[in-house]
Amino acid sequence: MSKKTIVVVGASRGIGNALVQLLASNQEHHVIALSRDVEKMKTAFQHLTNVVPMAFDLSSNVRSQAEGIFWNLDKIDVLINNAGLLVNKPFTELSHADLSSCYQVNVVGVMETVQAAVSKMNPAGSHIVNISSMGGFQGSVKFAGLSAYSTSKAALCSFTELFSEEYKDSTIKMNCLCLGAAQTEMLEEAFPGYEAPVSAEKMAEYIADFALNGNQWFNGKILPVSLSTP
Ligand SMILES: NC(=O)c1ccc[n+]([C@@H]2O[C@H](COP(=O)([O-])OP(=O)(O)OC[C@H]3O[C@@H](n4cnc5c(N)ncnc54)[C@H](OP(=O)(O)O)[C@@H]3O)[C@@H](O)[C@H]2O)c1
Repeated sequence: MSKKTIVVVGASRGIGNALVQLLASNQEHHVIALSRDVEKMKTAFQHLTNVVPMAFDLSSNVRSQAEGIFWNLDKIDVLINNAGLLVNKPFTELSHADLSSCYQVNVVGVMETVQAAVSKMNPAGSHIVNISSMGGFQGSVKFAGLSAYSTSKAALCSFTELFSEEYKDSTIKMNCLCLGAAQTEMLEEAFPGYEAPVSAEKMAEYIADFALNGNQWFNGKILPVSLSTP
């Protein structure tokens, strides 16, 4: 099996951190770990020789930052757009900055990262996985306070369908996972005291397996990954 280059965006904590640890446990994987807090990642991944942590901020100049990181790579086999920003506020209290930062990090930043990645994706077959939320999944239970966050995650679902249509004749597959609650700092900050049924590590197990193999069966799909109904 040839060495796989895997890019994980949003790797400094939570599910992204767990994903890097898991994916790097296979020495055939070369993992590029991206987030704003590069020092935190260097400490967290110092025991992993096949992980390269690099600073990356989805807030601005995303395409040029991503191009600067990707040009050095021969190819990208898997790109996991896991970073996310959650704002939990009553609708009328949402500022313009709240709305635009949510959309910048959760939608525009992801789209610009993908723009930079397209020419680097392995022509022999590759997978881009967007991490959305059950809140952005049509027909799911919705929560007050999440109109900025959940609508931006719904836009990420829509982007997945549009990209995969535009690239259907290519070897790049893109899918979107809508996660249910997982125990992370994001969840704890947004909903203090709430106990999720799934740990970050457990959620990462599913995402890692899907990112490595799901492109054989899925393209342009929006998949709920949740124990809750609906
Ligand atoms: N936890 C849940 O219950 C849950 C449920 C549904 C969906 N999700 C989604 O799953 C993903 C991971 O969630 P999580 O709970 O693990 O979140 P988290 O603990 O808050 O981690 C988010 C990651 O995103 C990075 N990030 C945030 N803003 C960034 C920016 N401007 N530029 C680059 N990186 C940025 C953070 O790193 P830095 O701060 O170092 O930049 C961090 O590594 C998110 O997309 C989230 O929306 C989570």
